[in-house]
Amino acid sequence: MRIILYTGKGGVGKTTLSAATALTAARQGYRTLIISTDPAHSLSDSFDMQLQSEPTPICDNLWGQEINVLKDIQKYWGELQTSLSALLVTKGFDNVVADELAVMPGMEEVASLLHVHEKIESGLFDLIILDCAPTGETIRLISMPDIIDWYIEKMFAVSLKGAGIFEPVLKTALAIPGQAVFKAIQTLFGGVTALQSTLLDPTQTSIRVVLNPEKMVLKEALRSYTYFSLFGYNVDLVFLNRIVMETGDSELLKSMRTVQAGYITQAETSFSPVPIKQIPLFAGEIVGIENLERIAESAFSSQEDPTQIYFQEKIQSVHKEGDEYLLTRRFPPFEINRFDLRKKGDELILTIGNVRRSIILPQTLALLEPIGADFSNGELQVRFR
Ligand SMILES: Nc1ncnc2c1ncn2[C@@H]1O[C@H](COP(=O)(O)OP(=O)(O)O)[C@@H](O)[C@H]1O
Ligand SMILES: [Mg+2]
Repeated sequence: MRIILYTGKGGVGKTTLSAATALTAARQGYRTLIISTDPAHSLSDSFDMQLQSEPTPICDNLWGQEINVLKDIQKYWGELQTSLSALLVTKGFDNVVADELAVMPGMEEVASLLHVHEKIESGLFDLIILDCAPTGETIRLISMPDIIDWYIEKMFAVSLKGAGIFEPVLKTALAIPGQAVFKAIQTLFGGVTALQSTLLDPTQTSIRVVLNPEKMVLKEALRSYTYFSLFGYNVDLVFLNRIVMETGDSELLKSMRTVQAGYITQAETSFSPVPIKQIPLFAGEIVGIENLERIAESAFSSQEDPTQIYFQEKIQSVHKEGDEYLLTRRFPPFEINRFDLRKKGDELILTIGNVRRSIILPQTLALLEPIGADFSNGELQVRFR
């Protein structure tokens, strides 16, 4: 089972490249499902056919689906929300406040995750391609399991991580009238936590960053790359889309080529050693299977398997140095001015800017104390004793 997420700023070509990848894989015999999690669905437009909220056949081996979030929220949360709200009222909350609190944050993201989980479990597909919403939402999507944990901790004063996921929830749920809450919570967390381990497995899941050679786009792509690494997701390929390949020497073309050349070099140095594929800017709109095939041909050579893992790097290692242990974690060379580290049990909590990430420590280190840390050249080194 392979899962590939296409992410990047709005309008850079995520939908186009995920559709082209899906077509190529389907042609090579992979049973492929392409799912759009972007509420501004454009997968239907890209394929030039109406896709439904359940897998819709596109051609041999290829199905497409545009998630209908509202319908999903109804499906997964209708009952949970009612029960949570009732629970809060019994705990002394005002009705309105209880309703408000019972609306979990990031339901759209969780709904998408559950859909993906359901499709993985179905065993009907070899490959799932996610045409994601713009970067910010993708980051929210992949950090959702952590956010849910935080939310539950606030709500029930228990953590889902560590000691058995369902145990504390089960206890709480049994204390409330109705099995509905427990059922709903079980569906919710069972799906999301199982999916998280799949998404974090670099042999199954890859993130592909799409960008254009422009200042803001490059900046956002690099920032997102830092976050993905921070969360432990594997970025295996970068698509640099809309490259002006015209050789004419009009002033406009010359200046476009010069500007782009600068950002292409920057992208290459910044993302290295992750491979980069350059995709030319085509004349006209890329709509319909025929046009998507043209993009596919420029993206992948005829024998190339687009589902391969193009790059996989070990980002974390532990060495023993004398009587100290050294934990090394690689991050992309994005500038980090300040960071904060804290150890809590077997977790090392790293805060960069307003993002908090916990690194689960190997057993050897969990029992020791961090005695110093250093962040340079994209490498975090923490000494333990
Ligand atoms: N290489 C390309 N050459 C020409 N047009 C492109 C190219 N890549 C994407 N487009 C067009 O740019 C627009 C935005 O692409 P899309 O894939 O929808 O971006 P995103 O999903 O990132 O918002 C679409 O109209 C698409 O047809
Ligand atoms: Mg799109």
